[in-house]
Amino acid sequence: MLNIIKKNEIWVLKLALVFEEVSKSFDDKVVLRDMSFEVRRGEIVSLLGPNGSGKTTALRIAVGLLKPSRGNVYIMGFSVFGDPVNSKKYLGYVPETPILYDNLTGFEYLELVLDLWRLNISDKYNEIIKLTRILDLEQSLEELTVNYSAGMKRKLMIIGALLHDPIVLIMDEITSNLDPKAIVTIKQLLEGLKDLNRAILISTHILEIAEELADRTLILRSGEIVWQGETRKFREEAIGEKKLEDIFFELTGGPEIASILDYLKRKNDDLNS
Ligand SMILES: Nc1ncnc2c1ncn2[C@@H]1O[C@H](COP(=O)(O)OP(=O)(O)O)[C@@H](O)[C@H]1O
Ligand SMILES: [Mg+2]
Repeated sequence: MLNIIKKNEIWVLKLALVFEEVSKSFDDKVVLRDMSFEVRRGEIVSLLGPNGSGKTTALRIAVGLLKPSRGNVYIMGFSVFGDPVNSKKYLGYVPETPILYDNLTGFEYLELVLDLWRLNISDKYNEIIKLTRILDLEQSLEELTVNYSAGMKRKLMIIGALLHDPIVLIMDEITSNLDPKAIVTIKQLLEGLKDLNRAILISTHILEIAEELADRTLILRSGEIVWQGETRKFREEAIGEKKLEDIFFELTGGPEIASILDYLKRKNDDLNS
């Protein structure tokens, strides 16, 4: 595969992230099944699916935190597992749960990130101030992150993931712990990065978020891609038939709310009889 990539530079430039027949099992449990897709530069792709459908597992494989049982992932043509150093140069990752150091201030954390990338704080200072300002974090930069709210921690992780100007940005559960204002800001930020020709892969369990943000969407159910295509086509296919949510739930197997309500009603009837 690498040979093909070297021969064809345009291919490399367009397909920033490639999943090639990726499967993952934990012991006997199959969590991802034969997943293939690409993210091109200048597009936002979403993994959409209910809890437990395999979104986080797929993203952890993409960033090299988990090894696939089969298949491979390429970032800018470099195998994540064969050439971790080169592939990760191009990668920014925001996990769902922030990983920070309690005894560092927000600013010290960002300085540490810059150090790891061997970047100079003076070159990045203005960018940090701009990003912290739009995310309402500027006033808290001198506070220890242990005292940050979950949302503030997440915002700091987002800023940290952007400082080395990654070409591929991966964000798990993008709205997690963020208030409505921050969600709007993040959406605008991602749109801006898309215009700068970055490749963005997000995960969400919220249909509306995928619809608003993603050019293309992959719907996951129990580790399998059950639908993939242009996000707007999902709506086009649904219109005139059923409600979009119903189609999403049919594809993903949820929600089981109707049967739960039924159960509660029966229980209530029993108690009253
Ligand atoms: N380290 C692990 N060991 C065993 N099972 C796991 C592990 N990580 C994830 N899983 C299982 O994989 C499935 C998919 O999980 P995950 O990728 O976190 O889904 P999502 O992010 O879509 O909610 C779940 O059934 C989960 O229990
Ligand atoms: Mg998850």
